[in-house]
Amino acid sequence: MKPTVAPFPHTRLRRARRTPALRGLTRENLLSVEDLIWPVFVREGKGEIEPVASMPGVYRRSVDKIAEAAKEAHALGIPAICIFPYTPLEARTEDCAEAWNPDNIANRAIRAVKDAVPDMAVMTDVALDPYNINGHDGYVVNGEIVNDRTVEALVRMTLAQAQAGADIIGPSDMMDGRIGAMRTALEQEGYQNVMILSYSAKYASAYYGPFRDAVGASGALTGDKKTYQMDPANSDEALRLIERDLREGADMVMVKPGTPYLDIIRRVKDSFGVPTFAYQVSGEYAMIQAAAQNGWIDGEKIMMESLLGFKRAGCNGVLTYFAPEAAKLLNG
Ligand code: PBG
Repeated sequence: MKPTVAPFPHTRLRRARRTPALRGLTRENLLSVEDLIWPVFVREGKGEIEPVASMPGVYRRSVDKIAEAAKEAHALGIPAICIFPYTPLEARTEDCAEAWNPDNIANRAIRAVKDAVPDMAVMTDVALDPYNINGHDGYVVNGEIVNDRTVEALVRMTLAQAQAGADIIGPSDMMDGRIGAMRTALEQEGYQNVMILSYSAKYASAYYGPFRDAVGASGALTGDKKTYQMDPANSDEALRLIERDLREGADMVMVKPGTPYLDIIRRVKDSFGVPTFAYQVSGEYAMIQAAAQNGWIDGEKIMMESLLGFKRAGCNGVLTYFAPEAAKLLNG
């Protein structure tokens, strides 16, 4: 649809920008606290809150502190939290068995949050990298990231998370066929209400650097993730991945990273009209925080502008490390 515009001076588009009231009336998109999913890092111990150097304002928390933080986030109106484990080095192995241990720190954190704040939605991460001796999201056999054996492990991991009480499973691994396998297993085991938010279009990105520090995977990673994560040059391929995941039973889809890929979000939303999410990843967060700390930009304003950009691009919501800060501002 092409908007009709009378010739100047009958049309003066500045009329609608003249006052806050008129700008408010004609505003097209709104960021709400309900759009936010807060990613957090869980570590071993008790009473521990340890800063992540490359992500100012982000911490690794022990399970008890995760529950406390979830309570605070819930009080701010944040609907969902996403749990990422910082696995102790000795629990990282070639067979990644810790990934489906019902008592691993991620699963303990899921239970602790559901106990402390039952109304808060808990999202998980499904990929082998926090448990893998070589830092990859899948099993490595003779230098190759093997697909089908990895999917079997991811299904075990999914069921352990569902059993711990997860509301939303978040496969971030980019293996083929994993959504269908997870959905079938969830149905068979009685978890028919558990949602899947698929990291469908996840790019092989340098923006994940600070995250890999946060979960202790930077040192471990051998090589790169280009044989399973997407080429940043591609756009049509993202639509094929999204369509494939929807056909396999994903309830919601994600594009990741966020800001450099807003064009993908728009295409996904226009093509499928399904619940669409962006992940404003660690590198995006770190860049804003670093420039703000130097006094080069207004951190709060850039945070809000970047988050609104996701809504304008077509997102239903955003995973962002800024969630509590943004919620405070949105709540006035
Ligand atoms: C790993 C995973 C990554 C992120 C979420 N899950 C990193 C990677 O793929 O190497 C990145 C999140 C961020 O950068 O904030 N499966």
